[in-house]
Amino acid sequence: MAMTDESALGTDGLPIDPALIAEAAALEEATATERHAALSVEIEAANTAYYEADAPILTDAEWDQRFRRLVALEAAWPTLITPSSPTQRVGAQLAGTFDEVRHRRPMLSLSNAFSHDELRAFDTRVRRGLGLPQAPEPAPDLTYVAELKIDGLAITLRYERGRFFQGATRGDGATGEDVTANLRTIASVPARLTEPATVDARGEVYMPKTEFARINAEREEAGLALYANPRNSGAGSLRQKDPAITAGRRLSTWAYQLIEDDAAPTLQLAGTAAVDSAAPGVASQSAALDRLEALGFAVNPNRQAGLDIEAVIVFTETWRDERHHLPYETDGVVVKVDRFDQQARLGMVSRAPRWAIAYKFPPEQVETVLEDIVPYVGRTGTLTPVAHLTAVKVAGSTVTRATLHNLDEIGRKGLLIGDHVILQKAGDVIPEVVGPIVAKRTGSERPFAMPAACPVCGTAIVQDEGAVRQYCPNLSCPARVSQEFQHFVGRGGMDIEGAGWKVLEQLVATGLIKTRGDFYRLSVEDLEGLDRFARKSAENLHASIQISRRRPLERIIAGLGIPQVGFTTAIELAAWLAVEVPAGDDWLRRAAALLERVATEEPERFAEVAGIGPTVSTALAAWFVADGPGRGVLQDLADAGVEPEVPSPRPAGGGESAATGPLAGKTVVVSGTIEGYSREDAEQAVRDAGGKASGSVSTKTDYLVAGPGAGSKLAKAETLGVAVLDAAAFRKLLEGDDA
Ligand code: IVH
Repeated sequence: MAMTDESALGTDGLPIDPALIAEAAALEEATATERHAALSVEIEAANTAYYEADAPILTDAEWDQRFRRLVALEAAWPTLITPSSPTQRVGAQLAGTFDEVRHRRPMLSLSNAFSHDELRAFDTRVRRGLGLPQAPEPAPDLTYVAELKIDGLAITLRYERGRFFQGATRGDGATGEDVTANLRTIASVPARLTEPATVDARGEVYMPKTEFARINAEREEAGLALYANPRNSGAGSLRQKDPAITAGRRLSTWAYQLIEDDAAPTLQLAGTAAVDSAAPGVASQSAALDRLEALGFAVNPNRQAGLDIEAVIVFTETWRDERHHLPYETDGVVVKVDRFDQQARLGMVSRAPRWAIAYKFPPEQVETVLEDIVPYVGRTGTLTPVAHLTAVKVAGSTVTRATLHNLDEIGRKGLLIGDHVILQKAGDVIPEVVGPIVAKRTGSERPFAMPAACPVCGTAIVQDEGAVRQYCPNLSCPARVSQEFQHFVGRGGMDIEGAGWKVLEQLVATGLIKTRGDFYRLSVEDLEGLDRFARKSAENLHASIQISRRRPLERIIAGLGIPQVGFTTAIELAAWLAVEVPAGDDWLRRAAALLERVATEEPERFAEVAGIGPTVSTALAAWFVADGPGRGVLQDLADAGVEPEVPSPRPAGGGESAATGPLAGKTVVVSGTIEGYSREDAEQAVRDAGGKASGSVSTKTDYLVAGPGAGSKLAKAETLGVAVLDAAAFRKLLEGDDA
C-alpha cells in the first residue's frame, strides 16, 4: 500500500513537500511504478551528462525538482526503492572519484541456475567437458565445493610479501576503483598475512544485518534518506571519499578466491585463461579456502566440499530457509568444480567460467487473500484488472495491490475472488500473484467478470478483437479525460510543475478544466479555491502554467496522447510542420488547419514525413481528421494563448532525432511476448527512440522489456540488476513520459 510519510527527507536532509508525497500516494501502484521508472531514466541521463560528459542537460533546480519527486514517490511507495534507483546511488556517484586499478586478472562473473534441474544440467556439461560418464554413473574424480553466495560488493585485495598493498572494487571486471584506504579500515581485511606471501585474494565486502539496522536508525534520526538494503549500504559505505566514514560503518568481508603469484606453471594450460592458481600444494578450491583462512582472511564457514550434484542440491535446500538466521545476506549458493586442473580443462565461456555456477534462491513467496479484483480505466480506456490483496510483507515491503494485466491472465492463473493466493515479487520488485491455493477454497469464492459498463462513466464496454483488451469507448469518460490531461501536463508533454494527480482530479471534478486550453484560462484565484492550496502554491502553479505556454511544439504534440505517437514521432512531425507552415502570427492555428486538411483530404502525406511508418501515419490521420478526436484541440490551445516554440525549419528526418530520442545511448533487450508489439516492432521502436536493440542481457543492458515467456533473460536481468519493464512501462519510456 502507498504510505504517506509526511516527514520524508531528501538526501540533502531537507523535507520533501508533503503535498508531493500525498500526490504520489494517491497514484495507482502501476502508475507510480511507471513514473518512477521514467523519472529514474531522466535523472540517470542527467547524471551521466553532468558527471561523465560534463555537459549538463538539466539545471540544478530542474534536477533537484525531479529528484524530489522521485524521493516523494519512494516515500509513498517504498517498494520502488531498488538498488538501482538514483536515490540509492547518489551518494556513491558524488563520491565516485577514485583512481582506477587495472585488475591483473579479470574479475569474472558467474552464470546462474534458478532450479535444481539447471544445476543438474550444469553437472551434465561439466562431466561432458571432462569426458566423464553422465549421471547416474558415479564420477568419483569430480567433486564440487558449495559456498554461500554473499550479497555484497566484490573486491580484490593485493598483498605483497605479506603486506596489504592495494584493494579495488570489481568495476567492469577489467578495471575497478582503488578503495585501499577504505578497505584498511575493515577489521577482517588483514594488514599483514601470517606469512610473507604475494597474493591476490578476492571476496565480498558486506554489511552485517544488525549494522544495517543500526545505520538506518541513525540516519533516520539525523533525517537522512534510508538505505534500501545491506548490499546497497555496504557498497555506499565502501565508496566513501572519507575513510573515516567507512571506518564508522563496521563492514566485513568473506574471501573466496586465491591467486598466488608463484603459482605452479602447470596450471597455466594453453587457451584456458584466468584459472585460479594457488601456491604449490594448493590444487583445489577447497584447499585454497583453507589456505586463505590460514593466511588470516575471513572465510565463510558455511561451505562444503566433496559433494556430487545431488548433495549440492541438498545444500541449497538447507540454506534456502536457514539463511534467514544468518547475520548477513546471501542470495544463493556458488557451486565450483573443486580441482584446479579440472577447472583449467573446462575453461571459460564469454566472461564466466564453465566450472562454476551461481544457484539463486527462489523469490520469497508469501500467502495472502485476494479480496477483490477491481478494473481500472486507463488513458486509452483500457480496463486493467487489479488485485486488491490483504496487506502482506514480501521481500522487504508491504503489498496490497498487484496488476493482473488482463482477463486472459486471470483465466490462465485460475484466480477467483476470495482465493488464498501465493504472492511473490518479480525481480524482488514488482508484486505478482502467482496463483491460487486451490486446497484452501471454501466454496464462497467467485469468478471475476469484466463489468458490462465502464465503472467510471457507465458507457458500455467494448471487447477488442483478440479478446485480450476491453475498453471504455467514451472519449469523455472522466477517468480517460483526467488521465489524458495528466498526460498533457506531465513530463512527456507540457511539463507543468505542480499539476499533480490530486490537483487534476479536482480541476476536472469542479468543471474548471474541460479542455486542454482551459489550463491556460485558470486564474490564481481559481487555483486558490482548491483543496490544500494556499495562495503561494496557487501562484506557483499558475506561474508554471504560464511558462509552459512557450514549450517546444513537439511537447504539445507528444502531450496530446495520440495513439502510436510518442516523443520521436512528435519531433518528426514538428520538424515537418516547421517546413510546411511559414513562420508568423497565429502559427499554431494555421498548423492545426493544415493538419486537419491533410488528415481529411490527403492522409497519405503523413506517411511521407520522415521516420513515420504506415501504422503511425494512419493513427495521425484518424486523430486529426475533421471529425476525429483531435478536432479543435490545437485551435483551442491557440485560442488560450499557447505559442509553442517551433523548431527552425530543417529537412525532416536525418538521424538526428535518433541520437536525441528518449532512449538515446540506452541498450535495450526485448524478451517474451510484449502486448501490442511483435518482437521486430518493439526493437524497431527502441531504435526509433534513439536506443540500441540487443539480443542478450549483459551488464551493458539498460532495460529488459519483458513479457510472458521472457524466461532466462528475465532471470539474468534480475541477477544483474537490470531494470525490467513491462509493455506499459516500455510504452511510457518510448514516449519519454512519466505522467
Ligand atoms: S566466485 C570466477 N564465490 O557473485 C568466480 N563469487 O554472480 C568468481 N559472489 O562477482 C566468483 N559470493 O561478487 C564467488 N562464494 C562466492 C561468492 C561470489 C558472492 C559474487 C561475486 C561474483 C558474483 C557472481
